[in-house]
Amino acid sequence: MSQKASIDLLIHPIGQLATPYLDDVPAHGEDMRAVLRIANAAIAMDSGVIVEVGEAGEVLSRVEVKASTQVISAAEKLVVPGLIDPHTHLIFAGNRANEFMLRCQGKSYQEIASAGGGIVASMQATRAATVDELVQLGLMRLTRMLATGTTTCEVKTGYGLDLDSELRMLTAIAMLSRKQPIELVPTFMAAHAVPPGVNRAHYVEDIVSQMLPRVAEIASDVAGWGCPMPFNDVFCDEGYFTVDDARYILEAGLRYGLRPKVHADEFAHLGASRLAVELGAASADHLLKIASDEIDLLAKSSTVAVLLPGTSFFLNLREHAPARKMIDNGVAVALGSDFNPGSCHIFALPLVWGLACIHLKMTPEEALTALTINAACALGLGEQLGQLRKGYRGDLVVFDVQALEEVPYNLGWN
Ligand code: NIG
Ligand code: FE
Repeated sequence: MSQKASIDLLIHPIGQLATPYLDDVPAHGEDMRAVLRIANAAIAMDSGVIVEVGEAGEVLSRVEVKASTQVISAAEKLVVPGLIDPHTHLIFAGNRANEFMLRCQGKSYQEIASAGGGIVASMQATRAATVDELVQLGLMRLTRMLATGTTTCEVKTGYGLDLDSELRMLTAIAMLSRKQPIELVPTFMAAHAVPPGVNRAHYVEDIVSQMLPRVAEIASDVAGWGCPMPFNDVFCDEGYFTVDDARYILEAGLRYGLRPKVHADEFAHLGASRLAVELGAASADHLLKIASDEIDLLAKSSTVAVLLPGTSFFLNLREHAPARKMIDNGVAVALGSDFNPGSCHIFALPLVWGLACIHLKMTPEEALTALTINAACALGLGEQLGQLRKGYRGDLVVFDVQALEEVPYNLGWN
């Protein structure tokens, strides 16, 4: 007789369990609809790792429920993998509600940025804040995110825009990762905007010769750092950084083991998605203006397309990322919030899920895959997180609804 597995945590009963279930990750194209739905399910874990998952009777026949095993009921509720936000600008001081008002009066994001608002406005507030203040602000935001189902979150720097201030942002991220339960994945993004009064070429050179070596040095002290190795991201767009700048910065980062991400095709089509694929970037993000041949390149690559429907909604853009075309052509699509003080002050992934269904025409199943396993792959965590599967981490969310589609349907409700 085979030995029953010892467990310390059992989620049972579960009204509906829904999870991507894939041997090969990320899920490309139609595989994004490969979502398993099991009624009357159970999940058994030990030391935070999933030991058994599936139909309750089968799970219970294979595990040993001891007196010490904690049992949590999710009767008549929905259980999905913890939601993963692969794109945020969570750390900033101040707010830009004034810009929101201007946009309501018809001004565009670019007009406001050219008039001294935008990223540079948040840079000024962020430079003026202490690390402790940044941590307190981050803590408040992460607490709200956790309450809406985010259990893993990427966090970019990029409101410091000089060596000291960028490092203070990284320090705040590392401190936050120890202070609260959401797992944080840092991204270095000094190439978010050119600080005022600085020549762009000089700034790019500064990033490559001064900042990247320091970031790599700090992150390579694994014990002291305590976070994953940062990604390296560039805002490649009109008025920000060129494809040549991006290539220079991202290739330099690669030499230090910092994997590229690219803000590509948000406002203008410059060819940044092509660069992302060429450099083996973990993700290319935004992609509103992506060209058809670049969609084909993405489909054949391991670069994940991170779409951010909260931003096109918040900016009231007429155009959204062509998610349907991407999925129908075999791209691995993920979804993120892009939470930031300017272009998208939305952090709630259930709302992003709804916007993905309404504006991007994704199915609830595709959106779940995009917010879990594909988002995990955009952060290099696809072997451990993003599906409820034996051997994966026991990281999950219980929603107070009975079926998957009720999450996007309950738009704006937590
Ligand atoms: O992803 N595109 C660049 N960065 C943000 C905007 C940040 C800001 O406006 O502060 C974005 O939309
Ligand atoms: Fe962004």
